[in-house]
Amino acid sequence: MTSRVPVVGGNWKMNLDLASAAELADDIVAGLGASELQCDVMLFPPFPYLHTVGKILGHHAVLLGAQNVWTEANGAYTGEVSTSMLHDLATTVVLVGHSERRHVIGEDDALVARKVRAALAADLRVVLCVGETLDQRHAGQTETVVLGQIRSGLSDVTVPEMARVVIAYEPVWAIGTGATATPEDAQAVHASIRAWISDRFGAATGAATRIQYGGSVTPRNAAELFAQPDIDGGLIGGASLKADAFLAIVRAAISTP
Ligand code: 13P
Repeated sequence: MTSRVPVVGGNWKMNLDLASAAELADDIVAGLGASELQCDVMLFPPFPYLHTVGKILGHHAVLLGAQNVWTEANGAYTGEVSTSMLHDLATTVVLVGHSERRHVIGEDDALVARKVRAALAADLRVVLCVGETLDQRHAGQTETVVLGQIRSGLSDVTVPEMARVVIAYEPVWAIGTGATATPEDAQAVHASIRAWISDRFGAATGAATRIQYGGSVTPRNAAELFAQPDIDGGLIGGASLKADAFLAIVRAAISTP
């Protein structure tokens, strides 16, 4: 049993078009009803759809999130988006260090840490994403890699700021592959992350920090993952593109003790 409010995010990645993004947001808001009170729900549309999706979310408790942010307030950074631009669109949370940004775009730990700093300094919430590759897992380096990413990503974060940080553990090999970590394997990593946070920020922060699992979460496997004591919800890719599937995952987070 956990006293932490579960958190479920829908990371739409570079998918959908404007009309289908609006329809998906509409369907999710309509389907949530009062259940949102028992689960923090976050939607991360592509940048060009933030405005439209934000209007649909309106005063609903669903949080509008961005998939990325730049480190500087403004200036000559072609193609980048600042924290104040996100604020203008009522965006309150941002993904930082997603594995696709680390491994496809090439962001390193130092840049991820700067983004965490910039986002927290601008009063945004942060979902810090971490995870090992398959080679690293096979080499027995999972904990070293994941805790290294956490140590670096949270290097300049204070205890009060940790209230605005969620960790997403997303094993790279499980993302978009249909291969999910077993609940026990995921739990082991989540427990290590929580132990590290307790050590670094104190037991109260360790106990309060939400740690989501991401990587091929579906309505079929969500409940058994969320039943693990240190798994506080999920960051959902493919299954978040269908309202029914996403809502079923939110319900699993709410009803799993
Ligand atoms: P999938 O759920 O498609 O595996 O993606 C997970 C993810 O990367 C969420 O950020």
